[in-house]
Amino acid sequence: MDRLLTNIHQLAGVRAESKLLRGKELADLEIINNAFVHIRDGRIAGYGEMSSIGRFEHEDTETIDAKGATVLPCWCDSHTHLVFAASREEEFVDKLKGISYAEIAAKGGGILNSARRLNDTPEDLLFEQAWNRLQELMKLGTGAIEIKSGYGLSVEGELKMLRVIRRLKEKAPIPVKASFLGAHAFPTEYKEDRQGYIDLIIHNMIPALTAENLADYIDVFCETGFFSAAETETICRAGMKAGLKVKIHANQLSLSGGVQTGVKLGAVSVDHLETMDDAAIGSLAGSDTIGTLLPTAAFFLRMPLQPARQLIDAGSAVALASDYNPGSSPSGNMNLVVSMSCIQMRMLPAEAINAATINGAYAMELGDELGSITIGKKANLILTKPVPSLAYLPYAFGSNLVDRVMINGDFI
Ligand code: NIG
Ligand code: FE
Repeated sequence: MDRLLTNIHQLAGVRAESKLLRGKELADLEIINNAFVHIRDGRIAGYGEMSSIGRFEHEDTETIDAKGATVLPCWCDSHTHLVFAASREEEFVDKLKGISYAEIAAKGGGILNSARRLNDTPEDLLFEQAWNRLQELMKLGTGAIEIKSGYGLSVEGELKMLRVIRRLKEKAPIPVKASFLGAHAFPTEYKEDRQGYIDLIIHNMIPALTAENLADYIDVFCETGFFSAAETETICRAGMKAGLKVKIHANQLSLSGGVQTGVKLGAVSVDHLETMDDAAIGSLAGSDTIGTLLPTAAFFLRMPLQPARQLIDAGSAVALASDYNPGSSPSGNMNLVVSMSCIQMRMLPAEAINAATINGAYAMELGDELGSITIGKKANLILTKPVPSLAYLPYAFGSNLVDRVMINGDFI
């Protein structure tokens, strides 16, 4: 089936050749004014200025008038914890009263609270809740997503979460990637026996999930009070042996060594990066690992935002993601992530859009499939309400400017 999307005010993110963007390249966002896109079998088959549309018009082509919408590739959200059993707004109120994230975690709140709730919730209900969240995110323009386990913290709980993610993968029209985050926190019963839990991850969880082929990545929360850099490396190496690639929760609350550990292991990405020094920035910039910034998590925890400018100026490949989870980022709205990156981290609109689209796609190893207007890529597209220019999208924060979303060439 051929489709022509016509009368596009600005077609943004056009790229003849797809590649991961680093440093200055992040500011290159090609735009075609007054454009069209030709879609065949759910993929981008051509594009150009309206004046050159003639050769694409055939009798059996369906024409869709974009009516002056701006069109850009869907957001590629490469870091979420979309599967969870319950919200945690009571902890939010505690935090407003002055109790810190670390104190809440130490009292058995935080991740352990979510783990208790998750273990008590049937798989079908978890699936239904996560499915509803995913529908909401797709309407906000998310066209590919990574989802982590890590609220099970038991063999059965982790497998249950990963099975939910597999069901989302099977049912969703957008690509879904799964990360195993058994090393998200030490469960209470292993508080005095850290090695016992690490052994459980390595000898029980990893073999069980690889037997069912449930994960694409292994992730570890490398943080003071959670997993040390050495423990992170041991766990990641066990995952790598089982064929999983590495992602790390790095340098969120402290200089945990997570960035350097990720770089050493050839991680696909190191994520968070609120707390960075010159050594961590230099290590990331000199590597092929993507630095994924999660500004809404820093915002929600009232932490200084990630040093995006320093990372980009040092030449890093930076991506943006939502970190959607009930504890530190109860929003998966990538439009807000992009706005906040510009407003608070001084990313240019072009840099933020690239980081949330093409670099996000590469952070899920989907760079050949998504993230730009490139021939052969999936037609996962955002059509905005009429906006004067692209910079209006991050500028007008809080307005929902996503009018329609196309996934595989069909409107959802
Ligand atoms: O990415 N930092 C570790 N994990 C999550 C938060 C998890 C939670 O609080 O439930 C994050 O921010
Ligand atoms: Fe996270």
